[in-house]
Amino acid sequence: MRDLLDLKNFQSQHQARKYVNRAIQFHHPYTFEERERIIESVGNNVFNVPSEITMVDLLSCSGTTTPTIEQIAQMILGDEAYGTNWGYPQLMEQFERVFGISRDDWNIYLFHQGRTAEHALFTEIGGGLQRSVDAALRYLWGYIKRGGKRLKIPSNGHFDTTRANIEVNDIEAIDIPVTRSIPDTEEYFFGGNIDTDALKDILSREGKNVPLVYCTITNNTIGGRAVSLKNMHKIQQLCGEYDKPFFLDACRFAQNAYQIQKHEAEYKNKTKTEIVHETIGLCHGFTISLKKDGLGNMGGALVVRKNSPLFKQFPEFFQHIKVHQLITEGHRSYGGTSGRDIMVNVEGLKTCLSDESLESQIGQVQRFGEYCKSRGLPVEEPYGSHALYFRMKEYRDGTNLKQEDFVGISVAAKLIRLGPRLCELGAFAFGKYDPKTGKETFPPFDLLRAAIPRNKYEIEDLYFVADCLKYLFDNRDKLPKAVCTHGKDLALRHFDARFELQTIK
Ligand code: F0G
Repeated sequence: MRDLLDLKNFQSQHQARKYVNRAIQFHHPYTFEERERIIESVGNNVFNVPSEITMVDLLSCSGTTTPTIEQIAQMILGDEAYGTNWGYPQLMEQFERVFGISRDDWNIYLFHQGRTAEHALFTEIGGGLQRSVDAALRYLWGYIKRGGKRLKIPSNGHFDTTRANIEVNDIEAIDIPVTRSIPDTEEYFFGGNIDTDALKDILSREGKNVPLVYCTITNNTIGGRAVSLKNMHKIQQLCGEYDKPFFLDACRFAQNAYQIQKHEAEYKNKTKTEIVHETIGLCHGFTISLKKDGLGNMGGALVVRKNSPLFKQFPEFFQHIKVHQLITEGHRSYGGTSGRDIMVNVEGLKTCLSDESLESQIGQVQRFGEYCKSRGLPVEEPYGSHALYFRMKEYRDGTNLKQEDFVGISVAAKLIRLGPRLCELGAFAFGKYDPKTGKETFPPFDLLRAAIPRNKYEIEDLYFVADCLKYLFDNRDKLPKAVCTHGKDLALRHFDARFELQTIK
């Protein structure tokens, strides 16, 4: 008998989540008034409220992934030895497997976060503190040869910690993302790409001042958008022509591979692992925070090819990095983390490229995006893989609010009174205050980010966030401005600044 029901077709449209909850945490019962008092007491800076007052914490997806039961089991097996814990060789094996590298050709240095790996890299390039006299002289000679010009590092988009680590070493961090976005084309999904014409221009005009080219996958600063392999091949080709090292910030390598497989025609039939191997095969080194696609709570690494044009400029690179790692993070086998974290990261790397893991994460962000769009919210498209970004310019449109009123800060401060915590990545976080002129300069974008911790929230939590955002959007003429009362001239000022919310007429 023929079945008249088309269950197979139905199933292709309707599916259960790819996981079940094995542990939960009830919210603390904070009232609106308690939240209001707490956020005011920390100068309306959402970074500094205790997380338990939040109902949906979308401040960051970094280190906030819900662990699998295998990761919890591995935590117990973590070995806290001071020298060469047993998780170390397992972690090295996972690095080799996931990234398609061999330790015969690459050095892997563990750090406790992405930013400490960046710090090691850029301290070395910028002239480091613990250099030998020879290295200091070489650095000075390079500086004279450049006519006293600063080094420059071009990128598709430096993340805030990367930018800060570059600038603190007196190097200029330059963002040259693509600016075009044509719907219904393959390129549309790769809005994280670097502008290769602008890169060629910098390399041809100022190549001698560029110690390396950097590319962030996915591009967290530019809407969390992916970077195509076509674009990375072009960067590699340009780096080859100008004999420059090509480095990746590979924090979200798995999400980037997912988007390449889905949207870059040439790679439709490749596995995500093959795509990651091809990506890493193009570069001379990468920094990574294992708190993102590594699915860990803590951990990072600097991974560098033994044979790279970097060593023409910095012949003592490996020696210096080793010393830097020992001084700041401890033994190479734990790199500032605990043995438990090492085991969590081993297990995380085993899962991170699975369809279940990536489809759960990215699928949820996409559904959240569709809901926001249906509610008329100004959400950036294409949606990021790990986050949605809301345009604050449209929260200002038709009101008396100006860019210097930091509306992203005031929307975040109002939202947390309702329970959601989002984070401004715009006029304040990426802007700059010049104490000499008393003037602010602004980045080309003004966004509020909702980063979705992996497997932590249900879709109705995210719908709740969208409804709160909608209420503020519909009442934007009543939004206060945020006046910075402390910290506007600090590096990474969004972490420590304080604000007063002032109603405007
Ligand atoms: N690079 C990128 C692209 C990042 O997104 C981050 C962190 C880092 C580097 C630094 O890594 O936190 O381990 O030191 N991003 C987090 C976020 C904080 O919320 O997007 P870390």
